[in-house]
Amino acid sequence: MTLQFSLEAESADTVDTACSIVGVFTDGTLSAAASAIDRASAGAIRQQLDSGDISGKLASSTLLFAPPGILAQRVLIIGLGPQAGFDAARLRKAALAAARALDKLPTGDAVCYLTDLEVRGHDRAACLGIVALAFDYAVYHYTATRKAREANSVRLSEVRLAGAAGLQPALDQANAIAAGVHFARELANLPPNICTPAHIAEQARTFAASEANVSCQTLDRAAMETLGFGALLAVARGSAHPPYLVALEYRGGDAGQKPYALVGKGVTFDAGGINLKPTAGMEEMKFDMGGAAGVLGAFIAAVRLRLKLNLVCVVPTVENMPGGDSYRPSDVLTSLSGQTIEVLNTDAEGRLILCDALTWTAQTFQPQVLIDVATLTGACVVALGRHASGLLSSDDALAAQLIAAGEATLDRAWRLPLWDDYQSQLDSTFADMANIGGKTAGAITAACFLSRFTRGQRWAHLDIAGTAWEEGRKGMATGRPVALLTQWLIAQQCA
Ligand code: BES
Ligand code: MN
Ligand code: ZN
Repeated sequence: MTLQFSLEAESADTVDTACSIVGVFTDGTLSAAASAIDRASAGAIRQQLDSGDISGKLASSTLLFAPPGILAQRVLIIGLGPQAGFDAARLRKAALAAARALDKLPTGDAVCYLTDLEVRGHDRAACLGIVALAFDYAVYHYTATRKAREANSVRLSEVRLAGAAGLQPALDQANAIAAGVHFARELANLPPNICTPAHIAEQARTFAASEANVSCQTLDRAAMETLGFGALLAVARGSAHPPYLVALEYRGGDAGQKPYALVGKGVTFDAGGINLKPTAGMEEMKFDMGGAAGVLGAFIAAVRLRLKLNLVCVVPTVENMPGGDSYRPSDVLTSLSGQTIEVLNTDAEGRLILCDALTWTAQTFQPQVLIDVATLTGACVVALGRHASGLLSSDDALAAQLIAAGEATLDRAWRLPLWDDYQSQLDSTFADMANIGGKTAGAITAACFLSRFTRGQRWAHLDIAGTAWEEGRKGMATGRPVALLTQWLIAQQCA
């Protein structure tokens, strides 16, 4: 369940709630809401600042229980760091800290005043979305295949965010994005023995059946054989789980209007194939369907918002395993486009399923914009780390739109070049191209490979290898880039 958000116009000194959340800066400056509470409660906050109990350090938290003079049962004081340079990234960290603290308390509802803070570069509507999504992110718990952890007697379910009624559209958007993020996280967190290609196809069908304007078609192995998906089907051969191509269509725009198309890599487990991956970290390759989860989540958010546009969401989904019938290094594949590909590494499988899916999507839907999302390369993680998704496109306007949508939601992407200079790294003696580009610029050569299947399209590629999940034993799926994609789609309606 996602949290229920609503807007709160009442000021902090008079609001009735189980917990009010307010901020303080390291220089001792109180936010407006903290000041109001401090005045009403005869200096309850100021006292603790003076004593040094409250530091204002970013994301620190202090709880006051039943302070005098106000109705709120608790006040949660969150550190905001130095006042100078307070930005949306810090607002997000403060909101995450507040939500984590609340998650441990028996509070069913809270009122958050962090949305009243002045943030440079982001307006009130954007801040509201960032805070709501941070709250929802922090209180998410995975339970699909385990006992729920010891729950509080009361669990946080309702959060009122300080803001005027005019912010309702922004709140609706945040709610829809939260639902999409939640869907993406749940799907990606599932283990690969449950989240198989058939499971992903089933999830898409179930969603389509619940929505009037949505239809779903799936191509199975036989259908793809007939059509000539030579690259995708080669990857699938090592697995006992059959592959699918899933396509969801949403009609929210005029009948004649070309759709926007999202394509997501759905490798339910990437063992590497014959070029088997090393043991360390192989379990993280259950997240290799993060692109699929991300585009499905964005699709769900767009449908929920009834966006006035047409949208298709295409997911090629396979498992990449070693086996007696696996494809091999040196195999030459004929892709759906007719171009041949020499396999030099079976672990570069994402681009092989995507190239056929991109060709099919362009042919079938003639989209006005085509965006693919994939946990495509370890090289992207080396280049950008875990904070930004890689963005590659030869369309400057489209790239700028996507970067802006990422900035607005703090689901950020950073552009890497896609110059023709890199294309020759894909030269092959035995086919039209090789499936790998050598040691250098791996994220770029992977995108170069995809670019050969999107000629004539307005196309962008998001490499989410570093952003789709948090690393480590406790790491879970993040639901990125659902917020970026949904924000971008929202902006496309009026364009
Ligand atoms: N799914 C991986 C990419 C990946 C690796 C994502 C680590 C997140 C973390 C992809 O299929 C892959 O194996 N790519 C290879 C490509 C190489 C063989 C050219 C890689 O990045 O090593
Ligand atoms: Mn791989
Ligand atoms: Zn992969």
